[in-house]
Amino acid sequence: MSNPYTTPTHREWQTVERSRLFGMDEWLLDETWPIIEPLLIGPVLDIGSGPGIALEARLRSRGIPRIALDRNHDYLMGLPAPVQGDITDLPMAPSAIPLLHARAVLGWLSDEHRDLAAQEILRVASHGVFVADFDWSALSDAGTVGRLKDLIIDTLEGFGFDPSFGARLPGVFEGKGWKFSTARIEPTARPGTEGVVQEAMEALMAGLRLFGQDARANEVGSTLEIFMRESRNDPDGYQLPAICVVSGPRQA
Ligand SMILES: C[S@@+](CC[C@H](N)C(=O)[O-])C[C@H]1O[C@@H](n2cnc3c(N)ncnc32)[C@H](O)[C@@H]1O
Repeated sequence: MSNPYTTPTHREWQTVERSRLFGMDEWLLDETWPIIEPLLIGPVLDIGSGPGIALEARLRSRGIPRIALDRNHDYLMGLPAPVQGDITDLPMAPSAIPLLHARAVLGWLSDEHRDLAAQEILRVASHGVFVADFDWSALSDAGTVGRLKDLIIDTLEGFGFDPSFGARLPGVFEGKGWKFSTARIEPTARPGTEGVVQEAMEALMAGLRLFGQDARANEVGSTLEIFMRESRNDPDGYQLPAICVVSGPRQA
């Protein structure tokens, strides 16, 4: 497998990725909203935006415009302010936008491109930044969860994504002239978590099938089935990755 964002199967991947992103979208926003909200003073540039429907709707309900920027044009369709562009070379002037938002993007980039992306984020943001990435290594190693965790991590690595990059996210922004807060959100199970886990895993399986990895997809499917059965009796059993955040207003 290679990075699905750059392979010939790209278009099919978008369908899979769309459903995964929709599945986790609202949950992710709810978990991180207390950090985002205090940073809102005007338009938000959402880079590596994907469709980002939940953020779009929440900002719109508060009268705040969102500019969605993604390398991939198809994710931007139907959005009010789409910009096709690359996170490592933003087509904006210095300090052009109050808040730069980048969620689950840097984990897909090489070290070199992460560094460029961080520089671009700091160049374009006039007031604040919010950057978040996952750390899937937060899942327990024990029993069925542990087996599922190994499968998820192996699969995501195969897709070209660094599943534990979130833990190293703060390092990317260190020494770049802006003092940040960092947060690590260990998600707790709540009503609806079961559906989030199920949808995320189904999209993972569909992604594997796209890459001809049917046996691996079936292995994920059967492990997921056991995991779901066991978790039904243990509401805390549904596990999701830790969300690691670098955020803050520009310091004087
Ligand atoms: C995992 S998705 C996250 C989407 C959205 N931020 C969210 O959290 O739902 C990663 C997104 O980053 C975009 N992307 C990847 N590399 C990019 C780059 N170099 N420049 C701009 N967008 C990029 C992909 O097209 C995709 O939409």
